[in-house]
Amino acid sequence: MCGIIGYIGQKKAEEIVLKGLKRMEYRGYDSAGIATLNGGLSIIKCKGKVRELKKLVKVDSKESAQIGIGHTRWATHGEPNDINSHPHVGKLGKLALVHNGIIENYTSIKKKLESEGIEFYSETDTEAAAKLIEFVIESRPDLPMEKAVQLAISQITGAYGFAMIHSDYPDRILVARKGSPLLIGVGEGEMLIASDASAVAEYTDKVVYLDEGELAVISKDKFQVLDANDVELEKEVHELVMSLEEIEKGGYPYFMLKEIFEQPKTIADCMRGRINTETGEITLGGLTKALDKLVDAKRIIIAACGTSWHSALVGEYLIEHLARVSVEVEYASEFRYKDPIIDENDVLIVISQSGETADTLAALRKAKDSGATVFGIVNVVGSTIARETDAGVYLHTGPEIGVASTKAFTGQVTVLVLIALKLALMKGAITKEVSKKYIKALREIPEKIQHILDRSEQMKRISDLFTYAPNFLYLGRTYSFPVALEGALKLKEISYIHAEGYPAAEMKHGPIALIDEMMPVVVIATTDHTNDKMVSNIEEVKARKGRIISITSEENNDVSTLSEFNFSVPETEDFLSPLLSVIPLQLLSYYVAVNRGCDVDQPRNLAKSVTVE
Ligand code: G6P
Repeated sequence: MCGIIGYIGQKKAEEIVLKGLKRMEYRGYDSAGIATLNGGLSIIKCKGKVRELKKLVKVDSKESAQIGIGHTRWATHGEPNDINSHPHVGKLGKLALVHNGIIENYTSIKKKLESEGIEFYSETDTEAAAKLIEFVIESRPDLPMEKAVQLAISQITGAYGFAMIHSDYPDRILVARKGSPLLIGVGEGEMLIASDASAVAEYTDKVVYLDEGELAVISKDKFQVLDANDVELEKEVHELVMSLEEIEKGGYPYFMLKEIFEQPKTIADCMRGRINTETGEITLGGLTKALDKLVDAKRIIIAACGTSWHSALVGEYLIEHLARVSVEVEYASEFRYKDPIIDENDVLIVISQSGETADTLAALRKAKDSGATVFGIVNVVGSTIARETDAGVYLHTGPEIGVASTKAFTGQVTVLVLIALKLALMKGAITKEVSKKYIKALREIPEKIQHILDRSEQMKRISDLFTYAPNFLYLGRTYSFPVALEGALKLKEISYIHAEGYPAAEMKHGPIALIDEMMPVVVIATTDHTNDKMVSNIEEVKARKGRIISITSEENNDVSTLSEFNFSVPETEDFLSPLLSVIPLQLLSYYVAVNRGCDVDQPRNLAKSVTVE
């Protein structure tokens, strides 16, 4: 949450900071702000999107600054307004600070500083950090600036990614990390700092990831990283593989639509080099280090949040069905606080698109502290979760920018299929012949998704008819149950329509009371072995005048003929059906949201990467 960017070099800092903010806007978009040093400290900030800020910032070659930091906000403390926007400044107006995270002891810091005569203007936790850091720098002239900053932040509890500039030290940006991601983009005679690689990709392909407790001093041609004990660290410079094309809309009106339509390619990329159709083998290099732990595990726990939690549920069905290993799926936020039973014999898989979700990261750390082996299924290369897990598999689906996750979900399910097949083979639960058959079916998935996308108009027509429905119910059984949850989540996230996903049979235990002629019921009936049961559930809905929109496989005439509207997807193995049935649901939510005039890529109150609890 919250995007942070900073630039120091010879170019126009305002221009680079604004561009970086635009690229990271999906991390938060309540308000935005920029601070630059050009003689003195100058701050411009306002409520609203980056485009509002852009109207206020002059990008003029004569007056341009060569050092600046910027922020796009997802509000935690204090409503989104001009005053609460970042950057925040110290009492003397020398230090400007931007922050991602939550400062837990900000009230006590504030009280202490107020007793020193320092006045506060905002309702934010961040202002306390800005005031404190500037105060310590001023009161300890005997210390080098970075030591004073370290001393100040040692008094702060909570989570932070900080970036700051100071008018007495115009040759440097300081950043510090605890709980919120930060990286340094290393250029030639220029450096960038950001909370997200997409903001620096245009300028450099060399990045340094900061780890917990580290502080970095960045000038235009060097950087120095210190740990919490003030020891200078040798940091590895990573190569960033991210093309500009991947982080631009490429002619689509929204990133979400682009990402939906990319799925034939992203799933193919996800499988590339990992499957062998001749031998039936699966190769997952990232798992090798700890594969024996996975194979020997008596049970596997999967923890995640949001859409990734829905993939985890598909993973449960996959691993139990194909590899016959017991799986428990946990909300990461519950797992971390519920006193879970977990020890060194256990295996935890965490799933996260961003690799930065605070609760998922905490679940990972909790499991590691208990001695368990932790695997990651992550999209963002170099993210904190990817770096802290013992082993893992990347999705290789490219940057996902639309806040509502689409291609990451299908990438996660694809990886889970590969893991389940690998485990099944290693445990002797399936033969190589069966694996070959399954791999063949998996290879056909991208083409089948393309076939669905080619008929997107049909889904648009259905969406047009239900644009103003106040509620939706989504029903599915077995593999289609997590898809029902995901379909409902997509709709509520971007169109603000109340929607619930349910296991179809559970409908009788509550949601059936809601069904009348106003209620669209989306039935996902793509798993052959439960189709007869779905027919009975559909009859129950129809008997109460509910309006059935069904997603079926092409040969499922029993369900399609009972439905008011039907969208069919190609036949596949039951366990691969989520990869197909979710696509029309993504399209349904997208078209409904567009019809309702919603901002599809930046839905209200949501953020792409949830780095606070
Ligand atoms: C946020 C995003 C969702 C995402 C969830 C988990 O809520 O808006 O799209 O599914 O976080 O994020 P992760 O990056 O851990 O998959």
